[in-house]
Amino acid sequence: MKLAIINGPNLNMLGYREEEHYGTITYDRLIDEIKNDIPDSFGNVSFFQSNSEGEIIGFLHEITLEKYDALIINPGAYAHYSYAIYDALLIFEGYKIEVHLSNVFEREEFRRVLVTANACDNMISGLGAKSYLNALEELENIFG
Ligand code: DQA
Repeated sequence: MKLAIINGPNLNMLGYREEEHYGTITYDRLIDEIKNDIPDSFGNVSFFQSNSEGEIIGFLHEITLEKYDALIINPGAYAHYSYAIYDALLIFEGYKIEVHLSNVFEREEFRRVLVTANACDNMISGLGAKSYLNALEELENIFG
């Protein structure tokens, strides 16, 4: 099972971002929590974070060509308007889960528009780090 976990813009700044939406967790702690929860059967998991749309698309192309089985992506604000990431996600043939730490439905109007999630198999929002952990659980149910 080849899995990639992708985080988009400003997620590297967790710990400094609005506490009411993101809590106090730092990016490094988030990644540690995710790593602690990765089932042994999953093997190697690739982590990627970038603030650049083009770099995220480049990474999506790489894991598509390397035939990864699944991805978990938090596209940050790109989730709301990036048709380029949407297209790159469509090319990826594995299982795709979009996650958000905050509840995007209870914030500004523009966050209710979800572009990239339409190219994914599922979307989990508003559970903090647990959004990622629930995504891992879903993948464990599918891939064992
Ligand atoms: C986010 C929600 C987005 O609207 C926002 O732009 C982010 C983080 C989240 O994880 O809650 O950067 O993706």
